[in-house]
Amino acid sequence: MAAYEHIIVEKKGAVGVIQINRPKILNALSFGVFGEIARAVDELESNPAVGCIVVTGNEKAFAAGADIKEMQPKKFMDMYSQDFMDIGGDRVATCKKPTIAAVSGYALGGGCELAMMCDMIIASDTAKFGQPEITLGTIPGLGGTQRLTRAVGKSKAMDLCLTGRMMDAAEAERSGLVSRIFPADKLMDEVMAIAEKIASMSQPVTAMAKNAVNRVFETTLAQGMDLEGDLFHATFGLEDKIEGMAAFLEKRKPNFKNR
Ligand code: CAA
Repeated sequence: MAAYEHIIVEKKGAVGVIQINRPKILNALSFGVFGEIARAVDELESNPAVGCIVVTGNEKAFAAGADIKEMQPKKFMDMYSQDFMDIGGDRVATCKKPTIAAVSGYALGGGCELAMMCDMIIASDTAKFGQPEITLGTIPGLGGTQRLTRAVGKSKAMDLCLTGRMMDAAEAERSGLVSRIFPADKLMDEVMAIAEKIASMSQPVTAMAKNAVNRVFETTLAQGMDLEGDLFHATFGLEDKIEGMAAFLEKRKPNFKNR
């Protein structure tokens, strides 16, 4: 693995794990952290032995937002000439491999936005989500107003973005932001088991499945159905589809070759 200063990147079996590692400041996301996460996604995405990527923090904080100390002196032109997107802040969202945010503790501002870039959010019962930028005199800048609204609907997104309040794991699951909740001390074991299961599937097929689901947010139903149909038919050109169905009929585990 390449060298990183602010994150820890590991390969555990077929799962790549990106752990934000600035515990003293609740994993605040500086430009340097976002840049390293983007590099780590490049590295794990191009490694054929990695089938799923987990993004996580620690028990107290997934990430408490963009680094306020770093942002405080910046003026309009500083951010306009180089913002989070320019340094790859959105890279997790463009990853072709499945991504899971394992969230314990605070996922606020850019932290909530980073979690929402992942394909799914799995949370501990201690997780707290929010977009508190309004309390700092600014607004979300990495998808908070867009992805949160698509995830939880207008009323709750407005509530969170306009009051800056936090929502707990139960409310986040109820609202559809979070797929599952586990006790904090079990979170990583449970997430790794889910990630390993996803990583055991055919990689071209997981890429097609997530592409099809993600297209929902970009297109009409008819266009989305067309894409789904095309990708569904494309799987019939894969050896892995032949193997998957043969394995079912022969009552054995499939041996996918990722082709
Ligand atoms: N940036 C920089 N430092 C941060 C930080 C952040 N986002 N969040 C926490 N810290 C630092 C604190 O300054 C503190 O540092 P010191 O020990 O040096 O004082 C340390 O982390 C511990 O934090 P607290 O003492 O505040 O811990 P707490 O348990 O009392 O409170 C908290 C926890 C409620 C999460 C509180 O830290 C907090 O409100 N943090 C800021 C949350 C926020 O506003 N995030 C949005 C940032 S803007 C953004 O993200 C823009 C965007 O959309 C891209």
